[in-house]
Amino acid sequence: INDLGNDIEKVLVSEEQIAARLVELAAAIDEDYKDKDILLVGVLKGAVMVMADLARALHSPVTMDWMAVSSYGSGTKSSGVVRILKDLDTDLTDRHVLIVEDIIDSGLTLSWLIQNLRTRGAATVEICTMLRKPEAVKVDIDVRYVGFDVPNEFVIGYGLDYAEKYRNVPFVATLAQHVYS
Ligand code: PRP
Ligand code: MN
Ligand code: MG
Repeated sequence: INDLGNDIEKVLVSEEQIAARLVELAAAIDEDYKDKDILLVGVLKGAVMVMADLARALHSPVTMDWMAVSSYGSGTKSSGVVRILKDLDTDLTDRHVLIVEDIIDSGLTLSWLIQNLRTRGAATVEICTMLRKPEAVKVDIDVRYVGFDVPNEFVIGYGLDYAEKYRNVPFVATLAQHVYS
C-alpha cells in the first residue's frame, strides 16, 4: 500500500514530544500575554499544524490570521527577498502579534517578515516556532518561543514538506534516500 511510513528514515521529534512541548509553550505564552489579546499570524503553508495545535493549547483569547510569502532564491535556499502572496486581513495597529512558524532555517523569511509587520503599527511582534535550525542562530532575530532545535538535516512532517508532500506526517523526521532518487 501507499504508506508514508515507507519513506521515513528517522523520527527526530515524536508526536508525544510535540504535544508535550506545545503545552509548555502555551503556558509560557498565556503567562506573558495575561492581559492582552493575541493575534496569531500563521505563515502558510508550513505553519498550519503548529497553528492549529498551539491555538487549542492556549487559554488566552486569540484571533488568527494568515500570510503566504514566497522567498525568491535558487533551489532550496531562500534569498531573503520576500514577496507577499497573501496578505493579512487584519489591521495590526496596536495589536499584539505572535508570528507562528513551523521552522526557522536560514531565518531570512522571518527577519523580513518581522520588519514588515513592525512597520504596520503593531504594539508587539514576537515569534513562536516549533523547530529551529543551527543557521537561524546566525541571523539577528529574537525568537521568543522555540519548540526544538534540530540538526542541519532536511526534515519533513508536522507541516514541513518535501516538494509539497509529507506535511501530514504527524511527527518530524528525515526522509529515506530512495525518496530523493
Ligand atoms: C519554509 C518554512 C519557513 C521557511 C523557513 O517555508 O515553512 O516558512 O521555509 O526558511 P528560512 O528560515 O530559510 O527563510 P517554505 O518557503 O518552504 O513554504 P511552505 O511553508 O509553504 O512550505
Ligand atoms: Mn513556510
Ligand atoms: Mg516548504
